[in-house]
Amino acid sequence: MLKAFTLSALLALPCLALAQSPAPHFDQDKKVFRLDGGNVSYLFGVNSRGELQQLYWGARLGATDTMAAATPMPEWASFDSSVTTTPQEYSGWGAGLYVEPALKVTFADGTRDLVLHYQSHTLVENGFDVLLKDVGRPIFVTLHYSIDPTSGILARSATIANREAQPVMIEQAAAAAWALPAAHYTLNYLTGRWAGEWNLTQEPIHPGERVLESRRGSTGHQANPWFAIQAGDPSEDRGEVWFGALGWSGSWRMTIEQDQLDQVRVTGGFNPFDFGYLLHAGEKLETPIFYVGYSAQGLGGASRLLHRFELEHILPRTAATASQPLPKPRPVIYNSWEATEFKVDEAGQMALAEKAAALGIDRFVMDDGWFGQRKDDHAGLGDWYVNPQKFPHGLKPLIDKVHSLHMDFGLWVEPEMVNPDSDLYRKHPEWALNFPGRPRSEARNQLVLNLARPDVRAYVLGFLDKILKDNDISFLKWDYNRNWSEPGWDQVPPPEQKRVYVEYTRNLYAILTELRHRHPNVEIESCSGGGGRVDLGILRYTDEVWPSDNTDPFDRLTQQDGFTYAYPPQIMMAWVTDSPHWLNRRSTSLTYRMLSSMQGSLGIGANIALWTPEETELARRLIAAYHAVQPTIVQGDLYRLISPRDGSEFSATQSVKTDKSQAVVFAFIHSTQKGHTFPRLKLQALDPAAEYTLTPIEGQAREGTPKTASGAWWMNYGLDLDGGFRGDFQAAAFRLDRNQGQ
Ligand code: GLA
Repeated sequence: MLKAFTLSALLALPCLALAQSPAPHFDQDKKVFRLDGGNVSYLFGVNSRGELQQLYWGARLGATDTMAAATPMPEWASFDSSVTTTPQEYSGWGAGLYVEPALKVTFADGTRDLVLHYQSHTLVENGFDVLLKDVGRPIFVTLHYSIDPTSGILARSATIANREAQPVMIEQAAAAAWALPAAHYTLNYLTGRWAGEWNLTQEPIHPGERVLESRRGSTGHQANPWFAIQAGDPSEDRGEVWFGALGWSGSWRMTIEQDQLDQVRVTGGFNPFDFGYLLHAGEKLETPIFYVGYSAQGLGGASRLLHRFELEHILPRTAATASQPLPKPRPVIYNSWEATEFKVDEAGQMALAEKAAALGIDRFVMDDGWFGQRKDDHAGLGDWYVNPQKFPHGLKPLIDKVHSLHMDFGLWVEPEMVNPDSDLYRKHPEWALNFPGRPRSEARNQLVLNLARPDVRAYVLGFLDKILKDNDISFLKWDYNRNWSEPGWDQVPPPEQKRVYVEYTRNLYAILTELRHRHPNVEIESCSGGGGRVDLGILRYTDEVWPSDNTDPFDRLTQQDGFTYAYPPQIMMAWVTDSPHWLNRRSTSLTYRMLSSMQGSLGIGANIALWTPEETELARRLIAAYHAVQPTIVQGDLYRLISPRDGSEFSATQSVKTDKSQAVVFAFIHSTQKGHTFPRLKLQALDPAAEYTLTPIEGQAREGTPKTASGAWWMNYGLDLDGGFRGDFQAAAFRLDRNQGQ
């Protein structure tokens, strides 16, 4: 079993030692818990019935302010009991509860009533462990609370323990529930589909429930486990925002619910659809972690807090960065997938590697097609030996060649899948998720291996470990190209088979943990046909993600915009590919493609063998310019100055280094209409008193723009782009550097 992950360990990193936040406090008389961190206070208490009731979540309260004891909300006539109107921190389904419960169980004797009351608590680093117990039976729930002293981001999860003599069936288990008082709110969430991920949807919260979920066994392209609730109407830089993200890469659910008193609750955790976790006597179930935060600076402020937290506390470190406060910026990669698809071989890859090295690429990645009998997507998944026709001498000659060109080497794998046309499937058909005797639905001609099985887990860990031992590999692109169907697990007795939803994902995490432990310098990308597995669970084990198979540079602008509400540019891999683009048949200039991808972690995925000397030189120059400012772009504070959403004619972003010494600005035109000039960009977050020098990376500022001016000038007067910056699919980029000694 995966070692239990403790919240206090997560938030007890050394870099937080300097943060000024009072310790978690429990008011013994009033039975009120208080957590403070960053600009946030979070208070909850034990009410007169013994329930744990939320009291406050928002901007930091005064240090000496006290909160009255928790009083249950009134009932609304005989139809909505006080149990249902009171915002409980973690409610069992029972005692007249009609809103979403956090926990729903069936006892062995058929009882389905669960009423969780406060028992005791312990102080842990940056938080509390609060123990709840059913009013009658020995079902215990420990709620883990932890607050990051710097960002005020809260992490919550629950451990459910069965101390009955009989098993208990858990039918629904949330990590946490969060509450907001009655008001007018806007809900923001991210939806999509394959090649169309990361659409920001904004809608008023209405009475009833909005369900965000995946029933697919993994995170999914269709909805991402992130939400942001804004007081009033949406705004990028103003107003209160409560946001959160769930750390789980299996089927998940978040409900956003407005109750009969107009209060809002967000409940999230395992998806209860088809869920059933038989908890044996003495066993415990650990939920995923639900992270939330608060910002008074609109959606932009919310995403900047979340980015910093993800960089500092979620993303893994390699051996080389183990003691660093931040992971290192991603190497600029070359990947040949769009250029060659499955047609990889030693000579072709070596030729591409030479071209890539000339561009200034850091990492050369060989994608699908190198293993088993893999000629297309019909065969080979599961057979992880090097294809002897394509690589007669193994991978070593290619890897040596890549190293001799001063790049490191990465490899594509899809470990959780099997093609029926493979030696593995012929040997172990029972390893695929299936209901015996029923059809097995294929997608992309493949089936999902049941990672919940110990033998499958051992196989997957074994072959990955061997590939990494036998070859000098720095990076794995870990792909996952379909969702579950027929999720049967007939190896265990029927009442336990639905545990697959938990054990599969836990084993995935366990394999990643072990692999990183055995190969501490190897980095991993989470890819699932693009952005199908991006969440704060997988991001504890993977260094970057592939946001979308859609590499069209114009589509990517809105995708990247959406992505950054929840995740930082550091992990957002962005390749420059060929034009016209395979998906939209849109033609764009290489400059436009480069600048679109330079907003994230840059990669090249074009057929560079066909590039002209001019194209090669342009890309080489822009890669060098990118390298020089990359830490600011991927780890700085991101300001979305003009959104590309809703067919906007213009868009712009600005990234500012946290010490304010540098800023990078990107500006894009979709299609100039009626001669509009690009709007003046009022920059943000510079030091008003310091002088900054403007240097174009691509494009020009308007004639007369000072080369050097104060931060106050760039923020208040702003940056005008050259009047000639017009047309279709145009792009410009600038850097501003604080003058020496300031
Ligand atoms: C998925 C990935 C692509 C590529 C192919 C290979 O679609 O998202 O980037 O690796 O698989 O089959």
